[in-house]
Amino acid sequence: NEMTIVSVPMDLGQARRGVDMGPSAVRYAGVFERLEALGYNIKDGGDVAVATEKAGMKQEAALKDLEAVAETSQRIEQQVTEIHEAGRFPLVLGGDHSISIGTLAAHAAQAENLGVIWYDAHVDLNTGETSPSGNIHGMPLAVALGYGDKKLTSIGSGPKLKPENIVIVGARALDEGEKAFVQEHNICVYTMHDIDRRGMSTVMEEAINYLRSRCDQVHLSLDLDGLDPQDAPGVGTPVVGGVSYRESHLAMEMLAEAEMITSAEFVEVNPILDERNKTAEAAAALMGSLFGEKLK
Ligand code: ARG
Ligand code: MN
Ligand code: MN
Ligand code: MN
Repeated sequence: NEMTIVSVPMDLGQARRGVDMGPSAVRYAGVFERLEALGYNIKDGGDVAVATEKAGMKQEAALKDLEAVAETSQRIEQQVTEIHEAGRFPLVLGGDHSISIGTLAAHAAQAENLGVIWYDAHVDLNTGETSPSGNIHGMPLAVALGYGDKKLTSIGSGPKLKPENIVIVGARALDEGEKAFVQEHNICVYTMHDIDRRGMSTVMEEAINYLRSRCDQVHLSLDLDGLDPQDAPGVGTPVVGGVSYRESHLAMEMLAEAEMITSAEFVEVNPILDERNKTAEAAAALMGSLFGEKLK
């Protein structure tokens, strides 16, 4: 029950201002109090220092702000590794989803066979070649699989993720290149269609059983845009027709019951785009469920 919460006020992986304030908004929504009430001994890991945008960075670059993102990812990897080495559970607050380049590198080094639940409207499997935007927050999962710019794939040591150890939940906005990537690597994606048709309960039961049978550690990466914009309006890349607030709580409660999550991050909260901190509050509430509120 030892946990360290660390903030990454990162906004370099995408174009909209404000997502760097996500960690503050989530803290303000009462995460510490909430998890301490569940019996967690929480250490405040503070902020990972985010590199500054490089002057003269070309906006038409295939990977925007590559150097600054790579530098920050390196720091994230180091700081998260220290949390693991101290024997504590790392809970990371984003920041845009590019922070996963660093977190996954750190988590992978601690596991024989790292599993990942990627809860997101997107699959974040672009590379500089396929990305329509050049935004690195659309690329972290590809990077963890070893695809993309060397400055990013070289962070941490050795191979990170295997394609068969990823389960994506809530997907509904894939780019053409990402569709091809999913096909080619046979990645397990539960789209909104699967959730509508079979229910969140069945989807999560399958995901849990599958990852339990093959992975020794499982990371949860929750992008708040996985939720429907009505429930989580404060995100930079909202997509209609998402997972509901209740379904998301069910998913988190099932993960709590399964006792399989060994690290987690909540990303893409953008307070400037939010309505009265609704999205940060949803994030904090989901953390409550993930860490066992229903069970206590
Ligand atoms: N697929 C789009 C892109 O590559 C959107 C990515 C959104 N990613 C996210 N983490 N919100 O630009
Ligand atoms: Mn910026
Ligand atoms: Mn997303
Ligand atoms: Mn994402």
